[in-house]
Formats: sequence, structure tokens, C-alpha cells
Amino acid sequence: GEISKGTYPFFMLKEIDEQPIVMHRLVDAYTDDEGQVSIDSDLLAAMKRADRLYIVAAGTSYHAGLVGQALFEKLAKVPAEAYLASEFGYHQPLLSERPFFIFLTQSGETADIRQVLVKIKAQGFPSLTVTNVGSSTLAREADYQLLLHAGPEIAVASTKAYTAQIAAEALLAKALGEVKAIPEAAQFDVVHQLGLASTAQQALIEQKDLIHQWATDLFATTRNAFYIGRGTDYYVSLEASLKLKEISYVQAEGFAAGELKHGTIALIEKDTPLVAFISDPETAAHTRSNADEIAARGAKVLRIVTQAQAQDEDQIVIPDIDPLLAPLLSIIPAQLLAYYTSFDRGYDVDRPRNLAKSVTVE
Ligand code: G6P
Repeated sequence: GEISKGTYPFFMLKEIDEQPIVMHRLVDAYTDDEGQVSIDSDLLAAMKRADRLYIVAAGTSYHAGLVGQALFEKLAKVPAEAYLASEFGYHQPLLSERPFFIFLTQSGETADIRQVLVKIKAQGFPSLTVTNVGSSTLAREADYQLLLHAGPEIAVASTKAYTAQIAAEALLAKALGEVKAIPEAAQFDVVHQLGLASTAQQALIEQKDLIHQWATDLFATTRNAFYIGRGTDYYVSLEASLKLKEISYVQAEGFAAGELKHGTIALIEKDTPLVAFISDPETAAHTRSNADEIAARGAKVLRIVTQAQAQDEDQIVIPDIDPLLAPLLSIIPAQLLAYYTSFDRGYDVDRPRNLAKSVTVE
């Protein structure tokens, strides 16, 4: 029947709130009675033969694909790269000898992705569609499919599909690493980690009032905004900035924190809002000093920091988790920042101008 938003003013807020449950649903869907990760053995055999994974997607799903690269490389020791579907099909890079294609798509109907699927099938390469809609075109036409179990996503701005895609990639990378006997996969307790992620997401969601206050302080009247991070925090910056721009019409950019000084820092003025994601242990100190430098130029800076990297002055602290999965947590306050900015400006949060939930033209 008709999906209801219940007491929520908009589907987007409901869907943000559903993310902790979706983590559990994915674990249930992809573990056996003993609690071991269990994924279609034919799919894993096909992936095991591959010498490189090509992750092809668009929009938010592409950002989830960027996060997936490190999961597959670290846990399954296979090179993995995410590509924009609209670019890949017409400028196909020189492929490895045994490529395997992963199409990430909430709707399973994105035309940009389908044109890639058609082309790589004609070349005889194997493929998997990871999607929220089992009956979709891309689910039917790929060799294999994995479902996201996120439940219908109604708001145009994607939230729970993003975190579901990252969790699904983690489960798949763990399973692939295990069939390849990779020690890092054996050590990565994905079921435990996704349980931690669910609990931590819930704790962040319960800080709505604090995050709403930050949305007001940073974005109430601004016309532009910056998000920075390094490693996976950079990929979160891209998704965080997309959330803000699609529903609040604030021009927002996500940057690799180290690159800001090579040009973009010229845009920083008094009161320019900047959000810094600091979870990556390798680069936390560098990103922190990049954020300090922006603050010294008069910017308003919000730091979203993992417990392990936190300092006294940090404003939003997220619980510790395996760094590979930090995006599952750090995106939550960013989704809420975007939501409240749009809501407070009086926009139709679920139906932003010029956008469609699924884009079936190239
Ligand atoms: C549209 C939506 C985006 C989405 C993108 C990819 O542009 O507005 O929110 O990320 O399509 O959609 P897909 O269904 O393939 O994940």
C-alpha cells in the first residue's frame, strides 16, 4: 500500500531515522544461523576470478562506491575503483584482463548506469547490481544481484540507501576476502562492526537538537559552504556537500583537505561555513591543522570528529568504529545539517526543484 511518513514532516527525516534498523536488516539478510557472513557462492566465485573491480554508479551511489574502494582493497586485496556511469560508458578506460563490474544503484533504473551494463555485457564481462529494488531493470539484467533491504526511499535526497550501500559493500568485501583467505578479512568482524555502527548512528540521531542548532549557526543565511576531509573523510565530504546543495540550494563543495590550500582557500571569507570530517587516523592531525588555518581566516568551522581523534574544543564527536566504516557515522550529522537547513528555509525537503528520484534519461 501507500507508504506513509507517519508523524514526520518529511520522508527525509524518517529515512534518516531508519538507518540504524537498516544496518540490522542487512546483517540479518547476509548472515547464516551461526552468525557467519553468507553471500551467494556463485557470485563470490565470479568475483574471486576478477583481477579488478569496477564500481559504476551516479550521484549519492557513486559516493558510496568511492567508500567501497578501500573496503574491497583492504579486506579482499583486489584493486577497486569507482567510476561515474555517465563518463565510463563513452570513455571506457583500458580494462584489466579479468574485470568484474559492480553497479550500485538505489533505484536500479538509472539510464546512465544501464548504458554501461549493456556495453560491458556485449564485451562478455560479469556483473553484479547492488540495489534497493529487486524487480528493477538493472537487477534483472546483471548476472548477480544483492538487495539493500533499506525499504522504499521516497525523499529525492538519498540517505538510508547510501549507508545501506556502504554496509552491503562491507559485507561483500568481507565474504570475498574470506573465500580468498585474506587475513585482514578474517580479522574484520563485520557483524560486530555493523552492530556498533547501528548503535552509534542511533546516538547521533538523538543529537538532533544540537545538530539543528549547528545548521542554524552555520547555514541559516549563507550562500556557500565547504566540507573537507582526507581519505574516506574526503568521500564523506563529497556526499555531505551534495546533500546540502540538493535540498537547500546552498552552493557547497567537498574538498580533499590538503588540496584546499592549492586554490580554493581564496574563497574563504569571514563567516564562510566549513565542516571538517576528522576520523581517518593517518591524516587526522593534518586535516585538523587545515581546519585551524581556515578558522584563522575568519571562517565558522564545525569539526565532526571520532572519539579517538577528539580534542576538547571539538563540537560533534562520533563514537569510534573501524576507520573503514566511519562514513556510516560521520554522514549522519551531515544529513541532518542539510535537512534542517532546507526545512528552516521553508523548502519542500522531499521534492527539491529540478531533481528526480530516479533519472531514466542520459
Ligand atoms: C538521481 C537522484 C540521486 C541519486 C542518483 C542515482 O539523480 O536524485 O539522489 O543518487 O539519481 O540514483 P540510483 O537510483 O542509481 O542510486
